[in-house]
Amino acid sequence: MGIHRSARTLGPGTSAALSSGEGVVLRLLEAGDPDLLTAYLEGLSEETRRRWGPHPFDRETAVAICASLDPADVLRMVAVTGEGAAARIIGYVLLKLGGLDSDRERFAKLGLPLDPDTVASLAPSVADGYQDQGVGSLLMGHVLETARRLGLRKIVLWGGVQATNERAKHFYRKWGFRKVGEFFTDKDNDDMILEL
Ligand SMILES: CC(C)(COP(=O)(O)OP(=O)(O)OC[C@H]1O[C@@H](n2cnc3c(N)ncnc32)[C@H](O)[C@@H]1OP(=O)(O)O)[C@@H](O)C(=O)NCCC(=O)NCCS
Repeated sequence: MGIHRSARTLGPGTSAALSSGEGVVLRLLEAGDPDLLTAYLEGLSEETRRRWGPHPFDRETAVAICASLDPADVLRMVAVTGEGAAARIIGYVLLKLGGLDSDRERFAKLGLPLDPDTVASLAPSVADGYQDQGVGSLLMGHVLETARRLGLRKIVLWGGVQATNERAKHFYRKWGFRKVGEFFTDKDNDDMILEL
């Protein structure tokens, strides 16, 4: 399958600048990143953890992720500021190629079956101190460019978006996602989709 073969051959990363002028490198998460990822996950506020939770936030998880990276399964993109000992992850986006089973099941019930060969589930996050400063948008541009290069046709939200998460809903709409359904877990959630 074309998507999965070419996912292994992604480039080294892209440099960009925040509106503050601070430099950022956008790249795939690497095997040498467990400390950076641990610091990122442990530093997330309760509020952000309530909104975004594709996996736990502890060192054990960060170490396990970095030891078994498989961009043909889940692409993990990070935004990094600083260099050497000062390097810090300030944004982390997951793109599950093929989509999560649970996401595809919800979309099938909506009458919108998703082809696992050309769909992916997206879970973006930005460090609390950097939210609302364009980091998510920088990562999104990079992720969508990669998704198109991989031949993806549709992107859905990993577990949907909480109905009360106004900033995230605005962010997704800005990037062309449209709402196609609602579902309830312990909260009200929306399903949104982007056609590439
Ligand atoms: C959602 C998230 C990934 C977006 O990344 P970000 O770097 O903050 O986003 P950006 O700065 O690129 O864009 C934010 C947009 O939301 C807008 N916004 C901010 N607060 C808002 C609010 N309360 N209501 C509506 N829009 C809002 C901003 O004006 C901006 O839009 P603009 O570019 O049209 O001006 C990030 O805020 C985050 O990690 N939030 C917590 C975790 C989360 O909710 N993840 C998504 C789970 S589905």
